[in-house]
Amino acid sequence: MLLDQHHRLLRDLRISVTDRCNFRCRYCMPAEVFGPGYRFLPRKDLLTYEEIENLAALVAGLGVRKFRLTGGEPLLRQGLEELVRMLSALDGVDDLAMTTNGALLARHAGELRRAGLHRVTVSLDALDGDVFARMNGVGARVERILDGIQRALCEGLGVKINTVVQRGINESEVLPLVRWSSERDIPVRFIEYMDVGETNGWRMEQVVPSAEVLEMITAEFSLERLKPSHSGEVARRYRIGKGNAEVGFISSVTNPFCGGCNRLRLSAEGKLYTCLFAESGFDVRELIRSGKEETLRLAIQGIWADRRDRYSERRGAGKNQKVEMSYIGG
Ligand code: GTP
Ligand code: 5AD
Ligand code: SF4
Ligand code: SF4
Repeated sequence: MLLDQHHRLLRDLRISVTDRCNFRCRYCMPAEVFGPGYRFLPRKDLLTYEEIENLAALVAGLGVRKFRLTGGEPLLRQGLEELVRMLSALDGVDDLAMTTNGALLARHAGELRRAGLHRVTVSLDALDGDVFARMNGVGARVERILDGIQRALCEGLGVKINTVVQRGINESEVLPLVRWSSERDIPVRFIEYMDVGETNGWRMEQVVPSAEVLEMITAEFSLERLKPSHSGEVARRYRIGKGNAEVGFISSVTNPFCGGCNRLRLSAEGKLYTCLFAESGFDVRELIRSGKEETLRLAIQGIWADRRDRYSERRGAGKNQKVEMSYIGG
């Protein structure tokens, strides 16, 4: 068991497999910054699947039980199913999930499921075609994402929806999304727009506090608070009506959850980050590549043992140059 300076257990590893994305959501990768001239990570700097597998096996040995593949958009990485196959075969991998924008999900859902993926979280900020196209920054059609979700469900993957709510942009989508997802028993989680990275021009006025979203929903639905399903859960969940449908709120701005934060993040180039809002990571690529397993284990134990991060509880308490969400994976 590994505890950090605030007595938080290491339980969860989030693995970014690429910093590229086929969308340009304004709150994450504004097109004017992430344009044709943007320098993404060169291929040679990316960890190979074998290297990721080695690190995952090692942290599983340190008590990590939840694993999540992220990006950018993870399905842009060639042959991702192979990595899923490798990870799902490891001892200790109790939960293997992926965060995706869903655009390539219809094509990959079957193979991902057969490779051993348990579930996907699909980012979906609107059901309205125009609002959705505007928010994803590339004019992608919402039907394509809905097809991906449908295929994932048919293949037996668990599905959750993540919706970032921004004032004046997609508040009008909250109720349609709750209606749509509750009819299908797909949990939807509304995320407060966060000040991640340095490029999205975040302002507090653009945040719609979860309390406000909750109020919008209770005007139409009866909600009953649910107990956390696991320790360190980031979403506050509510049952909708009497069935199995539920809605969650991820309120990192108005109600930070650093106290239970048990997540370690691995960037595609092999840096470990102990916080989503960190300035820098710990470069372990060469340690992984050199195959010095014991040195790597000691390094990770040290990184976690020294950890003091609680950015969301201290927001505004100092300036740092935060890494981008598309690089660290959310
Ligand atoms: P489940 O295992 O399905 O409960 O997933 P999760 O709750 O870890 O949620 P997910 O990975 O889908 O995270 C949803 C969103 O919550 C992320 O995209 C981030 O926006 C936010 N989030 C997740 N982890 C953290 C965290 O450690 N800190 C902060 N501030 N936000 C987080
Ligand atoms: N604030 C909140 N959530 C964000 N995401 C990306 N950028 C932000 C932000 N600034 C979410 C996406 C996706 C996940 C990877 O992170 O919507 O669900
Ligand atoms: Fe891509 Fe997801 Fe960022 Fe949108 S939020 S630009 S889909 S990584
Ligand atoms: Fe964890 Fe950092 Fe998020 Fe707090 S702000 S919950 S420490 S990742």
